[in-house]
Amino acid sequence: MNKKQLIQLVEEMTIDEKINQLLQLAAAFYSDKAEEKTGPMSDLGLNQDIIDTAGTTLGISGAKEAKRVQTEYMKNNRLNIPTILMADIIHGFRTIFPIPLALGNSWDEGAIEKMAEISAKEAAVSGLHVTFSPMVDLVRDPRWGRVMESTGEDPLLNSRLAAAMVRGYQGENLKEDHMRVAACVKHFAAYGGALAGRDYNSVDLSERQLREMYLPGYKAGLDAGAKLVMTSFNTVDGVPATGNEWLFRDVLREEFGFDGVVISDWGAIKELIAHGVAEDEKQAAELAIKAGVDIEMMTMCYPNHLKELIDEGRITESLIDEAVLRILELKNDLGLFENPYRGADEQLEAEVILSDDHRQIAKEIAQKSMVLLKNDSILPLNAQEKVAIVGPGAQSTDILGAWSWQGKKEEAISLVEGAHLLSENLLVATEKFDYFDPSEVAINEAIELAGQVDKVVLALGETDWMSGEAASRSDIRLPEKQLTVFAKIMEKNPNVVVTVYSGRPLDLQGIESAKGIVQAWFPGTEGGSALAEILWGRYNPSGRLSMSFPETVGQVPIFYNVDNTGRPYESAPEEKYVSKYLDVSNYAKYPFGFGLSYSDFEYQDMRTNSDTFTKEEPLEVSITVKNNGQVAGEETVQFYVRDLVGEVSRPVKELKDFQKVWLEPGETQTIRFILSEEMLRYVHKDYKVKSEPGQFVVMIGGNSRDLTTMTVRLND
Ligand code: BGC
Repeated sequence: MNKKQLIQLVEEMTIDEKINQLLQLAAAFYSDKAEEKTGPMSDLGLNQDIIDTAGTTLGISGAKEAKRVQTEYMKNNRLNIPTILMADIIHGFRTIFPIPLALGNSWDEGAIEKMAEISAKEAAVSGLHVTFSPMVDLVRDPRWGRVMESTGEDPLLNSRLAAAMVRGYQGENLKEDHMRVAACVKHFAAYGGALAGRDYNSVDLSERQLREMYLPGYKAGLDAGAKLVMTSFNTVDGVPATGNEWLFRDVLREEFGFDGVVISDWGAIKELIAHGVAEDEKQAAELAIKAGVDIEMMTMCYPNHLKELIDEGRITESLIDEAVLRILELKNDLGLFENPYRGADEQLEAEVILSDDHRQIAKEIAQKSMVLLKNDSILPLNAQEKVAIVGPGAQSTDILGAWSWQGKKEEAISLVEGAHLLSENLLVATEKFDYFDPSEVAINEAIELAGQVDKVVLALGETDWMSGEAASRSDIRLPEKQLTVFAKIMEKNPNVVVTVYSGRPLDLQGIESAKGIVQAWFPGTEGGSALAEILWGRYNPSGRLSMSFPETVGQVPIFYNVDNTGRPYESAPEEKYVSKYLDVSNYAKYPFGFGLSYSDFEYQDMRTNSDTFTKEEPLEVSITVKNNGQVAGEETVQFYVRDLVGEVSRPVKELKDFQKVWLEPGETQTIRFILSEEMLRYVHKDYKVKSEPGQFVVMIGGNSRDLTTMTVRLND
């Protein structure tokens, strides 16, 4: 269909049909089992007519079921408008990849694009059309449970990875390529800024911070072509996003030029009442439609009140028409008018989902996302050494993470299973070891085994429900009993490597004396084999943190791109009247960009092609990286800049670019970065994005702390 035909279609629709087009209902309403839908129907006060014409659905999958629902839907639909099947495919469909925070640690756009492509394919053959991903919320507070869904704390890295995900999900041509799905950038905006790291809490940011740090990620996803945007639950400058006209009309649509579909988060329109900006559902509907929210997810403010609001002259019908048109355009872009079943295909489903190929790629991406945090010459292990694998994570298949809707734990590979493929010298516990309350028998067995081996792998961490939505924690240490077990094992045998499964950067106090620490996140279906291959040196760790690890939760929020303050700590850490704590340093335990390797990379000979540069002639900055180690490996060379004097205070460092380089033992390579005037632009007092001439410090290194620096000048 072309735009004219779509406009005609809107004209043919009755007002009720149009309003229902704006409603999204969950899978239960489309069940063929009456008992599954009667309860939810009466909860929402719904009738069958509304269900039959609600424009989109949430959480239906399986090719057979998807086809059944679409067939039924079309039967009841006077104008032959198909429904859209949407769902949360966040880090894989059935083949589960590492959680997005772990993906962020790969710093690998290609890998992330591939993960999204595979997720899209498995989802598409199962009948889905839209995924509610990528989640692009910048995060600085590991207490917030949803850090596991974000790629981290840096606007540039988040932006690149968001764009990669959108490319992977959507491909080049959604209409023709039915193995792809449409992407939804969420949660607009600044959901990751939840005060005190508590989920759903208010966000209070200056407009400058919002624009400079939080918005670029969403914008990058949109520039890559994402078809939808989801509202966030929080307030932005006092106004809940879901009713925030400035945010959606002025910023998203006008400034960013977004003309796709805006969907509310689950129940977020009705929540405008609890936020205290609407007195009832009717006013909530009015605020949301005026803000430009096209789809209402799972509440009934639109169906129950939009007509009345038009009749009373509080809104114009054109507001509804524009929202309906955008939804029909999305249906058209997906090719649903030509083929309402799109990719749904039972045979392909059987071939594609969880294929060996997908598992293999999931393993490779899991390897790229794990980070070696500490290694006092204990890793890699070798097959001759006798190793005990103990602790709650040893045999655990609770390694998929909180957003693995279709993932099955029984299909996941545990660390012990992975290790068995690599070594015959293993001792493994027989007792089940609980994450929180291990039995005395299990603890004693672990200690006993530790005494019989050369080295111990102690697998600790969080369970999947400890992060994700509505899973914030005020204490982000490992559960107490795990720390006790660690101490007891260290007494028996100090050659301990701790592996950590978690959905957030943890406060790792209590296990720092381990000789090795591997941060494995929730690594997905092939997590155990990926982790074992890292431990036994089949894969040389290459992950780099995309979020700082605090020394203690009291430093949170902690992030690398801070402002200098008037009394900077670095200048005089021993002084009293500087910006610091009395009881802990200002530094992260493991900073942004950090990660060790079995290789040993050395940076030498940093140069610039000139001391000065201009808008017309950018600067070239280079450095030589050498692998002094015994094994080949991959280094992520990071390029940071500091603007020494700005109109507003500028961060002490900002990531501007990075490159991955593979180096054989003894090999040397020169890495070049280009610094252009455009890269130095920032949000000014008037919110305009521009640069000024002046001095800049350029920095290159393997993480945000250990950097080689030079000073250069941008001239007019
Ligand atoms: C979450 C969204 C998600 C939606 C639909 C909400 O609770 O905040 O991220 O896409 O549910 O499942």
